[in-house]
Amino acid sequence: MKLISANWKMNLTPSQTKEYLQKFLPLIYGLEGREVLICPPFPSLCVASEMLKDSSIKLGAQNCHHDKKGAYTGEVSLDMLKELGISYVIVGHSERRWIFGESDEFVNKKITACLKASVRPILCVGERLEEREAGLTFKVVETQIRLALSGLEEFTDSLDIAYEPVWAIGTGNPATPEDAQVVHAYIKDLLCHINPKHGGKTRVLYGGSVNPRNSGDYMRMKDVDGLLVGGASLEPESFAQIIKSF
Ligand code: 13P
Repeated sequence: MKLISANWKMNLTPSQTKEYLQKFLPLIYGLEGREVLICPPFPSLCVASEMLKDSSIKLGAQNCHHDKKGAYTGEVSLDMLKELGISYVIVGHSERRWIFGESDEFVNKKITACLKASVRPILCVGERLEEREAGLTFKVVETQIRLALSGLEEFTDSLDIAYEPVWAIGTGNPATPEDAQVVHAYIKDLLCHINPKHGGKTRVLYGGSVNPRNSGDYMRMKDVDGLLVGGASLEPESFAQIIKSF
């Protein structure tokens, strides 16, 4: 099933989350044939969990720590998140990699922990502008995926991958659907090499300046299995339009 997900990043307080969901739920009521996921910031997970408990909308976190508990000031474990009903975690988002220095090794540990906890990771990969201009897109994406999945090759069917070119995030300058398709096809091919048995089962989402006007164009691409939406998911109407655009 196609997956349309919202990454709210550091936006929407608990009370704003409540207001959002009160508007959003009726907008997509009864809609079938797609999976919808919302990833609020940590403090808003509790209220979202309460409000989504009778709906088919899934709840995800934007990050997690890989250990079960311990002296990690400011971190959040998967057990804590699972108690709030989360079923997905975004791992290795470029903002975590480039602003907070998250390494491929850390990303690998987090994916390992998610799989052990039966939480579905969404692994984010994507090249920076200078890498794209140097013709390194495939190499960067391949390296990120191989390192993230090191030792986990047989589990590729238990995760999703989001291709988010860094230069397209929050810039209003998205990859064209055709360009995204080429990278998505490359990623799927790579996954089939990594895991010949199940490689074809991983969904590959596109993220980076998706909005209600361009979302349908991505979803028409053969290898785009869903979207990871930032800015345009912060208004219930706009996110609902994206969900209904295909
Ligand atoms: P924007 O949709 O705001 O470009 O953000 C994309 C993103 O980073 C989703 O994870």
